[in-house]
Amino acid sequence: MSRDLFEHKSKSWDMKSRRVANARGIAETIQRNIKLQSTMKLMDFGAGTGLLSYFIAPFVEKIVMVDNSSSMLEKFKEKASEFECQTEIREIDLTKTTLDEKFNGIISSMTIHHVEDLKALFRIFYNMLEEGGFIAIADLDSEDGSFHSDNTGVFHFGFDKESLEKIAKEVGFKDMHFELASTIEKPHREFTVFLMIAKR
Ligand SMILES: C[S@@+](CC[C@H](N)C(=O)[O-])C[C@H]1O[C@@H](n2cnc3c(N)ncnc32)[C@H](O)[C@@H]1O
Repeated sequence: MSRDLFEHKSKSWDMKSRRVANARGIAETIQRNIKLQSTMKLMDFGAGTGLLSYFIAPFVEKIVMVDNSSSMLEKFKEKASEFECQTEIREIDLTKTTLDEKFNGIISSMTIHHVEDLKALFRIFYNMLEEGGFIAIADLDSEDGSFHSDNTGVFHFGFDKESLEKIAKEVGFKDMHFELASTIEKPHREFTVFLMIAKR
């Protein structure tokens, strides 16, 4: 079992108001761009304590929370009963363990910078989507490496849209679209967060 890189952060994860505001901004951008439906089953990749899914829950039937950090998922479990849709947990590293499930959409917030091989990840996403399903992936625009105080487990200092678009297209995604989803203010500078939407 690999080390839980979020153990020391999980207890206070939800207490940072900028994290909650970021998740809300991403959720609102998803809602503006995708017609969410009460019959939809989604996966939240790197769901953590469930911040993003909490704001998406009122509009869908079910969200499967995928995360390899047991401590983050423990925090989610404490508030799962407050979610306005069904939720299920899969405690796995999605890059190592595949799920034999299909989804109408995959959402994700601030997680793909923790995955080294993005092409392999996007291929996994593609194979887990129903025909016509969507990905809505939010993460940092290219940054100078100063977003995290400790870059352990960080494989990308944000992303430039062109290279992400190229990878997603190579895997088969279409109808790509990027939007500014939120801005995170830190004492030393601000960081922008994009939302990438694409269809299978
Ligand atoms: C920066 S946190 C974001 C959590 C949440 N999405 C949010 O916005 O508050 C990244 C999360 O992704 C999870 N994660 C990173 N790589 C993963 C992988 N390969 N498979 C599953 N979860 C992963 C981590 O455990 C962590 O909970």
